[in-house]
Amino acid sequence: MENKVYIYRSFERFWHWMQAVLIFMLAATGFEIHGSISFFGYKNAVTYHNISAYIFMVLIVFAIFWHFVTGEWKQYIPTSEHLAAQLNFYLFGIFKNAPHPTKKAVLSKLNPLQRLVYLSLKILVIPTMVISGLLYMFYRYPQKGTIAGLNIDSVEVIALFHTAAAFVLTAFIIVHLYLITTGTTPTSNLKAMITGFEELDHHHTTENKSSKEITAAEVNND
Ligand code: HEM
Repeated sequence: MENKVYIYRSFERFWHWMQAVLIFMLAATGFEIHGSISFFGYKNAVTYHNISAYIFMVLIVFAIFWHFVTGEWKQYIPTSEHLAAQLNFYLFGIFKNAPHPTKKAVLSKLNPLQRLVYLSLKILVIPTMVISGLLYMFYRYPQKGTIAGLNIDSVEVIALFHTAAAFVLTAFIIVHLYLITTGTTPTSNLKAMITGFEELDHHHTTENKSSKEITAAEVNND
C-alpha cells in the first residue's frame, strides 16, 4: 500500500539543492586553487570560488532565518536515544535487511546520527569554512599588500583551517551520497528531497498515523 508523507517543505528543498550545487562548486574550485585538480584554470577558479562563496553566505543567512521562524532548528537537538541502534543499523543491520530503527516524521525527520552530524556541520564545519574563507578573502587583499589590513603574520594558519574543513565536508558528502540510497527504497530519500513527499512502506504507515495528520496541515500551509 502506498503512503506518502510530506517531509521536506519547499524552502527546505530549495535550500538543500542550492547548498548542494554551491558546495560542489566551492569544492571543485577550492581544490583547483589548492592545486589538487585542474579544470577551470587557476584565475577562473578563484573568481568562481569567490562568487559561489558570496551566494553561499547569503543562502546561509536565509537558512538561519528560516530555521528560527519555523522552529525547524529543534530538529537538530542531539539525542542519544536510538543512536547506538542507528549506528548498528548502518554497520550491520542494513546488510541483513533489518528494519530501519527510527522512522521519519514531519516533527522528527532526522535520525539521531543525522542530528549529530548535521549539527556539527552547522556549528563547527560550515562556520570554520566561512570564517577562514572570509579571513582568506580579506587577508591584506584589499590593500594589495601595501597596508596590512588584517595583520595576521601568515596566511598559512588560515589555509590550514580552511583546507582541513574542506576535507571534512568532502568526506561528509561522499558518505551522504551513499546514505541517500539507504532509505525505504534506493530512491525514496532522493525523491523526498525533490518532491517533498516520501513513500513509506506499510510498516511505517501504521506507525506514522500522527505525523500523517500533521502532514496534511503542513501541506496546506506550504
Ligand atoms: C563562505 C564560504 C567560503 C569562503 C568565503 C571561501 C573563501 C576562500 C578564499 C578567499 C580562498 C583563497 C583563494 C585565493 O587564494 O585567492 C579559498 C580557498 C580554498 N577554498 Fe574556500 N571558501 C568558502 C567555502 C569553501 C568550501 C565549502 C570549500 C570546500 C568544500 C572550500 C575549499 C577551498 C579550498 C580547498 C581552498 C584552497 C586552500 C589552499 O590551498 O590554501 N571553500 N576559499
